[in-house]
Amino acid sequence: MSRTIIVSNRLPTKVLRTEESLTFQPSEGGLATGLGSIYREKGNVWVGWPGLFVEDPAEEQHITEQLQQDSMAPVFLTEAEIRDFYEGFSNSTLWPTFHYFSQYATYEQAHWEAYVAVNEKFCQAVLALAGPDDTIWVHDYQLLLLPEMLRRARPECTIGFFLHIPFPSYEMIRVLPWRAELLQGMLGADLIGFHTFGYMRHFLSAVSQLLGYSSQNGQIETPSRTVLVDAFPMGIDYQRYETTAASAEAKRHEAEYREALREVRVILSIDRLDYTKGIAQRLRAFEVLLQRYPEWREQVSLIMLVVPSRDQVAQYAALKEEIDELVGRINSQYRTITWNPIHYFYRSFPLEELSSLYRLAEVALVTPMRDGMNLVAKEFIASKADQRGVLILSERAGAARELSDAIIINPTDTNQLAEAMHEALVMPEEEQVQRMAALQSLVRQYNVFAWTKLFMDRLQYSKIKQLTLATE
Ligand code: G6P
Repeated sequence: MSRTIIVSNRLPTKVLRTEESLTFQPSEGGLATGLGSIYREKGNVWVGWPGLFVEDPAEEQHITEQLQQDSMAPVFLTEAEIRDFYEGFSNSTLWPTFHYFSQYATYEQAHWEAYVAVNEKFCQAVLALAGPDDTIWVHDYQLLLLPEMLRRARPECTIGFFLHIPFPSYEMIRVLPWRAELLQGMLGADLIGFHTFGYMRHFLSAVSQLLGYSSQNGQIETPSRTVLVDAFPMGIDYQRYETTAASAEAKRHEAEYREALREVRVILSIDRLDYTKGIAQRLRAFEVLLQRYPEWREQVSLIMLVVPSRDQVAQYAALKEEIDELVGRINSQYRTITWNPIHYFYRSFPLEELSSLYRLAEVALVTPMRDGMNLVAKEFIASKADQRGVLILSERAGAARELSDAIIINPTDTNQLAEAMHEALVMPEEEQVQRMAALQSLVRQYNVFAWTKLFMDRLQYSKIKQLTLATE
């Protein structure tokens, strides 16, 4: 029987250490939901890191057994690997480079070596589980070398790779000292997927300029094999957000918040702490809105959720300070006894509360400097049962390629963003409904299940095609 093995740096379950005990928390991430139906099917498995450092072999054994019951196989990382592979090469070299923040990128040989070693570790973990007929689907930038490592060990295996972040212009990629190895690593796959055609074109250009491999119609000819490349914009579990937003609990939370906020209108911003998300720029634009349109003072508040992330990496810690400082300054300057301009939270929220905030908000600000896709934009849309509400979306989020009925802005243009907020706040209800209806039908149709099916079908097709070519 052929099986499917999903591989990503993070497992869909997070293991957390609280005081003396361990807790297993299902990840709310889109990927976990989308692939939930696949990896839980009989015989299938998800390979990844449980998100914490484990010293005690007995504890490791306990975690492994617990996760195995839910079709997961953990790969444990040492403290040095977390530092050099995760915080180092993955999040201080690849992440900034792929998001056009190369001024933040470091180039450390030791980090590269850890990256190779951890990809090899993942490879061994997959090989221990995978048979020759199995399908392996590798995810994201932490595992760029894995497809090629697997291919060497299992030449006949069906291997898919999906990149969840942007693939940048060749000019960014060429700066990396290990650029050729990284591209070769990805080319071990049969099918490579990106969120947009733009990212795909950048990849094809990098492969042609750095490796000299030509391509036609998304088909790359390497000396040994043909590799297919295509765009698959990822979606969300639409129904889940729609249903949660309509639940009694979400409505109850919304009523509580509404009472506390009185008549004040709400602009919402939700992100992981990251310099790619444009959080500081967004705060400055909100300040411009209050300066330029004093009539909004005491009438509008920004509710801003920042979910803690990668805070051991220097740039993230610095950003946290910058945000704290900006929020403090703006609030102290504009607040009144009865009105708070910015309600800022630095923690994660359960889905029902997020859902009630989506319901409550008249405007959502999704204004990253760069973002592979951005699913918050889609979650906001799915939660808007009455079809009122306006999405302000950055032109540099992958989602902007699909969601053209949002107000599309350039996130570095503070004036434009402030004007967009004003425009959203005065937008006639009829126009809001018209735009939201169009957005909803798109996000409903291209949901995460459709995304998974498209990728998997195309992957099987790529294999059949290769076999036909080989026998011709
Ligand atoms: C982005 C990446 C994912 C990553 C997630 C959370 O969405 O594309 O691969 O898992 O951020 O980041 P973390 O470093 O906490 O895994």
